[in-house]
Amino acid sequence: MEGERYAFLVEWYDSLAGIVRRYNFLFYPKDSSVEMIDVKNKRIFLKCTKEESIRLDHCYIGSSVNLHGRQLKFVEYSDTFTKTKLSMAKEKTLAIFKPDIMEKMPLLLEILCTEGLQICDVKTVVLSKSAAEEFYREHCAKPFFRTLVSFMTEGPIMALSLLADNAVSRWRELIGPTNSADARSQAPDSLRARFGTDQTRNACHGSDSVVSAERETEFFFGAGNSSSRGLQVPAEFDNCTLCLVKPYTMTQGLLGRVARDIVQAGFDISAMQMYHFDKSTAEEFLEVYRGVVAEYSEMVSELCSGACVAMALTHQHGSACVEQFRQFVGPADPEIARHLRPSTLRAKYGHNKLKNAVHCTDLADDGMLEVEYFFKILQ
Ligand code: RTP
Ligand code: MG
Repeated sequence: MEGERYAFLVEWYDSLAGIVRRYNFLFYPKDSSVEMIDVKNKRIFLKCTKEESIRLDHCYIGSSVNLHGRQLKFVEYSDTFTKTKLSMAKEKTLAIFKPDIMEKMPLLLEILCTEGLQICDVKTVVLSKSAAEEFYREHCAKPFFRTLVSFMTEGPIMALSLLADNAVSRWRELIGPTNSADARSQAPDSLRARFGTDQTRNACHGSDSVVSAERETEFFFGAGNSSSRGLQVPAEFDNCTLCLVKPYTMTQGLLGRVARDIVQAGFDISAMQMYHFDKSTAEEFLEVYRGVVAEYSEMVSELCSGACVAMALTHQHGSACVEQFRQFVGPADPEIARHLRPSTLRAKYGHNKLKNAVHCTDLADDGMLEVEYFFKILQ
């Protein structure tokens, strides 16, 4: 890695000028420095600067990073070294946690993290009958097709786009043989061996090739209205509250641990979805803190600095879900939280006041509004 330089074409939408600007984005992993050159006038736009928040694994086609308040989208490799080195190595696959395993969802997310499978996108959905038939259309003539469709539509599932070296085969190896009984005899550590029941109720799905992965990723995460394509959002809107797992927490691979703690504390995660905030959406979402919290603009930048994950939560007992969850999240400053409330989420997973693990709804009346914002309006 010594002395290596990676080059990407990135785009930034300049909302003031109303145009898309294109830059050559050069990244030097040795000291995490970045240099940017304006493609149009060939001038240096950003002198080579150390940018500790940027890592090579954030830089892949389709991802975006936030640099000094600008949301940069990676659109192409701009030299053959970068292309050969990165496009050969990294691969995406589509994984599903099927309805029979959703109770184990936090543990499965932790396993993904330990195995080094990076979550590029994630959402919970309930498949309509026709969506399930479409997803499994290659099996429409098989005797098990009806059983499969009714199983896949019986409750929420989680779809994930995963990135890793050889992601397709690595994920399939992790999940094991199709039949859970075979899995138990042939690959006892596999997920289907551990969590599956039989030939149909087998815990997980994994794309069987890069081509299938592309089709299946498009199926769940492609542009367009999800509900018109038969992907219903399972979010519960009554007596609910919002938890937003912040970008820094995501880059630390903590999504699974946070989800596990939330469930252990008696909350139910009815829906989950990844978002990339841009500056104006983050400003809109954090509007109530403008002029109230001194770090407002840093809060906005922090929220735009990478992917975050929204969770719609309810609590097993009672209706004071917003307040119950706020107590569980703890004081805004993780240092204070570690002294006063060491078992709270921010005490355990927070880094500093801005990178404080999660955002939670503050006011009881806003619970439903914030959940609707993510799971209805931004859909
Ligand atoms: P592969 O593509 O390598 O065959 O593996 P897969 O796990 O995707 O299984 P596949 O054969 O594609 O079947 C898709 C899903 O249908 C259910 N199934 N039920 N005989 C049966 O009852 C049966 N066979 C398959 C499983 O849920 C399977 O994952
Ligand atoms: Mg298959």
